Amino acid sequence: MAAGQIGYGVPSSLSAKVTGSFAYLTIRDRMPTILTKAVDTIHRNKNKFFEEHGEAGISAEKQAISLLSKLRNELQTDKPLLELMDGLSDTESWNQYMQRQQRQLGDQELVSWFKSPWLYVECYMYRRIQEAIWLNPPINNFDVFNEGKTQSFFESQQAVMALCTYLGDVQKSMEKLSENQLSEHFNKLLQVSLWGNKCDLSISAGQENSQKASPIDSLPSLQSFILVNDSNMVWLTLNSSRRPEGSGQKTADRVDIVLDNAGFELVTDLVLADFLVSSGLARHIHFHGKCFPWFVSDVTANDFQWTIRQTMAANHKWMSKSGYQWQSYLNEGIWSYHDHPFWTQPHEFCDMAADAPDLYATLQEADLVLFKGDLNYRKLTGDRAWGHTVDFCTALRGFEPAPLCSLRTLKANVQVGLQPGQGEKLSTQDPSWMTNGKYAVIQFHRPKLE
Ligand code: F6P
Ligand code: MG
Repeated sequence: MAAGQIGYGVPSSLSAKVTGSFAYLTIRDRMPTILTKAVDTIHRNKNKFFEEHGEAGISAEKQAISLLSKLRNELQTDKPLLELMDGLSDTESWNQYMQRQQRQLGDQELVSWFKSPWLYVECYMYRRIQEAIWLNPPINNFDVFNEGKTQSFFESQQAVMALCTYLGDVQKSMEKLSENQLSEHFNKLLQVSLWGNKCDLSISAGQENSQKASPIDSLPSLQSFILVNDSNMVWLTLNSSRRPEGSGQKTADRVDIVLDNAGFELVTDLVLADFLVSSGLARHIHFHGKCFPWFVSDVTANDFQWTIRQTMAANHKWMSKSGYQWQSYLNEGIWSYHDHPFWTQPHEFCDMAADAPDLYATLQEADLVLFKGDLNYRKLTGDRAWGHTVDFCTALRGFEPAPLCSLRTLKANVQVGLQPGQGEKLSTQDPSWMTNGKYAVIQFHRPKLE
């Protein structure tokens, strides 16, 4: 067996054991910074806590800050990870997962920040942030990342307006569109949702004329940065399930979208979902979000509802129209929002069938599952040191609840399914291609036993 492999053909998890690796730098530099910002945010909200809860608010603020500062110290000094103590419904499962990690590490050393898999310790940090908040009523519903999420929504208003206007135009002419035109619009909106993952700000925000720039207009210049583009397979999957009702065959029923970030990215996902429903490509959309604030900008139920309310309230005809449309999809049950606790656990998705069989069974009911973003890609592939030419199917290790597609910009150093030589060429041209968010994949897999 080759070095760095844990079983036949399965490489080891990425971790900070390799000094200077992206995992190492993230744990050493970026994660403590996130904790410092969380402390700062809580402190800046001190007056608000006092106004709302009096002295109890202030004492909760102090206590939460002290727990987060302790957490930062544990991380920076590579202390063993500690069991969770907040007694919530997922606490036991987190503690069991820690024991599982310990068994894999053996008796020689304890599970710790720089020795354990990066995916696990990074997820664990967000769960510990949540513990620090939950243990401190009356501020136990405070979202330390909320400010950044709302700011990113407001900063991308021009792009959101342009996108909603585009959607409105498409919908006006929907009846008259040829199959080719429909597929062109589908591809554009799929790519907007893809690039929405690049960052929370609009694709065009960096340009000087961001006032006028539309995310749709930016697509041609981004085309060559899509390293794997299976959008045709996604289109075929939607169409093969789009059969006339009464034909005795299965009709297109459900597309699931496993959401990633709030802000502009969420709007791109809602626009895509609206297009899928209004074009008849899908009858229902299930959105999957997070139960608590996660990886700084991930969507929670609160972010989801807030975004739709803000869109409805916009002083822009097409934007507000879209918002009202989205709310009515929710009211009619055409759209629904779900937040299973598995999405805020550290497992690779190949564990889902065994560790969250109810969620796996739910996903099996979908005609297509879209996984947004980098963290979902890391969990799909187990965040392992796979060679770049390994098949996506191999890296999924049996995770195939339904036809699935990852829409991901590359922000972490795992990438499979490339052509021979493609990774080497990219490494020469742009050494940080796997982490700088400039590249993306639309990567599809269909279960073999459908
Ligand atoms: O830059 C790396 C990172 O912080 C990873 O930890 C994580 O996979 C990713 O960013 C989050 O990105 P996304 O929101 O696309 O999942
Ligand atoms: Mg995210």
